Amino acid sequence: MFAIVNTPKGVAPLEIREVAEPKAASNEVIVEVRAFSLNRGELALLAMRPEGWRPGQDIAGIVVQRAADGSGPDVGTRVVGMAEQEGWAQRVAVATDRLTTLPENISFAQAAALPMAGHTALRILRFSDPLEGKRVLITGAAGGVGHFAVQIAALGGAEVTGVVGRPERATGLRELGASDVVTQVEQARGPFDLILESVGGASLTAALGLVAPHGTVVVFGNSSGEDTPFNLYNLFGHEGVRLQTFFSFNPGTSTSLSTDLAQLVALVEAGKLTVPLGLERDWSELALALPALQSRQVLGKATFHVR
Ligand SMILES: NC(=O)c1ccc[n+]([C@@H]2O[C@H](COP(=O)([O-])OP(=O)(O)OC[C@H]3O[C@@H](n4cnc5c(N)ncnc54)[C@H](OP(=O)(O)O)[C@@H]3O)[C@@H](O)[C@H]2O)c1
Repeated sequence: MFAIVNTPKGVAPLEIREVAEPKAASNEVIVEVRAFSLNRGELALLAMRPEGWRPGQDIAGIVVQRAADGSGPDVGTRVVGMAEQEGWAQRVAVATDRLTTLPENISFAQAAALPMAGHTALRILRFSDPLEGKRVLITGAAGGVGHFAVQIAALGGAEVTGVVGRPERATGLRELGASDVVTQVEQARGPFDLILESVGGASLTAALGLVAPHGTVVVFGNSSGEDTPFNLYNLFGHEGVRLQTFFSFNPGTSTSLSTDLAQLVALVEAGKLTVPLGLERDWSELALALPALQSRQVLGKATFHVR
């Protein structure tokens, strides 16, 4: 079969090459991948990992081999899931507790956009449960996680302010549920009960100044790569503030990935969650599309069809 292989020393940073078929552990199905999506975190991994490494987590496709332990869906079932890696391929092994079934009315490209960005949005919003009536600030709102977080927070009854890098990056966010969209954290009208921060540096410094007493700041990314200068003493006037980290591989949550994916799929199926497909291409164009995500040209998610 064919798969995307990391080629950091090559002419292109990635190549489609012939590789061995995946081998499934007893709790894994083999999925014939029809589409996958790209996450910002994977851009960093591509640069760090060696020649020959096989990337890819977010996938959607059709089960072509059942799990030996009897768990999970039958052959022929449409699924969306999150592989550990090696998902940017024609076939991949996925654990049955990391996928869910997919109805016919959700395309593979839409579904592939959901796993990493969607489950991250769900889980970071749970740090302020219930959301009803809460004031929520979301930095990086034009990105993949940001688009889902804006919508899910608004669905939960929160008043959402999104932060984007340039005015044109605000496109569609109000229609998706944001009450306000600003281009600088400093322009946001605080205080906020929940702040979802993934830009880091000056953005996080400014966001920390806007947290309400007993509010929560969730730090789940550092897209800017900048350090965050901040005098914690400044928080002493904000009684009971919680500074919360989140990492998807160590989530500290009792819900399984398949439960979260099923919730996301149900929201899309019900027309309550829009999948922001800012870029949709054939997988042969992946290397060409990398700079678009890197340079913040993609609104929402970048997905690729596998042939
Ligand atoms: N902790 C976890 O488990 C976890 C899980 C998923 C994602 N993440 C992290 O969360 C962040 C968002 O992920 P994503 O997939 O939504 O990324 P994305 O689609 O690339 O969105 C990132 C957003 O950040 C904004 N941004 C502001 N300053 C930036 C800068 N200097 N460089 C890059 N982006 C900047 C951009 O908004 P504008 O273009 O409007 O400026 C962009 O829309 C990333 O840092 C990612 O690594 C963490």
